[in-house]
Amino acid sequence: MAKTKSTFFCQSCGYQSAKWLGKCPSCNEWNTFAEEILVKETKNNSGSVSPNKVRKPQLINEVTLQNEQRFSTRDAELDRILGGGIVPGSLVLFGGEPGIGKSTLMLQLALQAQGVKILYVSGEESEQQIRMRAERIGIQNHTCFILSETNTQHIFKQIEQNQPDLLIIDSIQTLHTGFIESSPGSVSQVRECAAELMRFAKESATPVFIIGHITKDGSLAGPKVLEHMVDTVLQFEGDRNYVYRLLRTTKNRFGSTNELGIYEMRGTGLRAVSNPSEILITHRDAPTSGVAIAASMEGLRPMLIEIQSLVSSAAYGTPQRAATGFDLRRLNMLLAVLEKRCGFRLGIKDVFLNIAGGIKVEDPGIDLAVVCAVLSSNEDLYIPQDTCFAAEVGLTGEIRPVNRIEQRIGEAEKLGFKRIFISSYNTKGLDINKYKIKVIHVAKIEEVFSLLFG
Ligand code: TYD
Ligand code: MG
Repeated sequence: MAKTKSTFFCQSCGYQSAKWLGKCPSCNEWNTFAEEILVKETKNNSGSVSPNKVRKPQLINEVTLQNEQRFSTRDAELDRILGGGIVPGSLVLFGGEPGIGKSTLMLQLALQAQGVKILYVSGEESEQQIRMRAERIGIQNHTCFILSETNTQHIFKQIEQNQPDLLIIDSIQTLHTGFIESSPGSVSQVRECAAELMRFAKESATPVFIIGHITKDGSLAGPKVLEHMVDTVLQFEGDRNYVYRLLRTTKNRFGSTNELGIYEMRGTGLRAVSNPSEILITHRDAPTSGVAIAASMEGLRPMLIEIQSLVSSAAYGTPQRAATGFDLRRLNMLLAVLEKRCGFRLGIKDVFLNIAGGIKVEDPGIDLAVVCAVLSSNEDLYIPQDTCFAAEVGLTGEIRPVNRIEQRIGEAEKLGFKRIFISSYNTKGLDINKYKIKVIHVAKIEEVFSLLFG
């Protein structure tokens, strides 16, 4: 192995030190030092570039476009999220909490893609374990190779012999390169291994999927270093106790980042859910108080979701507020608006809020549904089951417009809703006569309240 020189850098301010330090003398941060390679002796590091390698500036109009040939993953959801298939030479980081189903989805991708040679490298499981998982998924494939290995030099040697069309690495945290001494999973190992994989992807035009575990605070381990390097970042989210998983892109050089895919974890692997609204709304025989349906947007995809709320008198002095799938601070804000602007006495009540299906929603367009669910539970009056909501609520109690209102209305109509409440300020350019669903504009919470509960 070639001898290399390494040094330590503060990951927060870039301060350089010959040995590891607990506290950075420059920015005073603790525990930020990580080892990095300075010189690889095998490489020509003289700094001078040979003249025939110098690139000249080109006019942008004169750059010839090659037709990029994406290949399909045979999974419509995954193809859509990637922006229409896998781009040759792309490096995709696939992150998610342990146990969420990353290995399952990647193995499924490997097994589904028929006719392409795939190498699935696992540093976490043995060949037998992967085979067992493949049996569970139950797809036959004759061009999918598996390798249980963690050393990148060994992996590249196998790649050279095997010449795969697609490489999957499970996971980046288990890999280690011989050029660095620190242990697998450390910042410098993760960064260097990813850099080696990136070089391979770009030089050979082979797409590479890298699985990465997410730390407790929700960031990809290896403080963001990987996100800059890769072309696409996919995140797999969801509650392990529920069957639904959301696949999002948080970065994509070859497509939009607004896409969202939904999967259901079954005994036989993951199944793409093509109509999410249907699974996220409970179909009840009789309407119940405390339930409101929001016409929400997840990225570019309209989705109807069910908001459940329970309001009861606080048993102990301090009222409790809890929210699942919704930002608690936003709930507190909405409760304050109801109290101060609309005169509902919620300050002495416990308020619980839940978004059905275990999904997390950040779209402010569900505010009105949240408010209505809370009021419905508070008054113990139900909202008709054919009614849904799409509006934001402002601090003064006004009902504010939301984006993509036509898509929201369209989705609600498609699912058979009869009434949708939207903001009065959302009607510009909207032709409500073309819908069968009744579109009701409101400007104040009081108006909604009297229309719903009279
Ligand atoms: P896994 O893909 O190993 O998660 P990760 O690689 O993200 O850590 O999936 C873990 C869970 O998925 C595990 O608890 C079992 C469950 N599972 C199923 O429910 N059905 C299946 O067909 C498979 C393969 C796994
Ligand atoms: Mg795994």
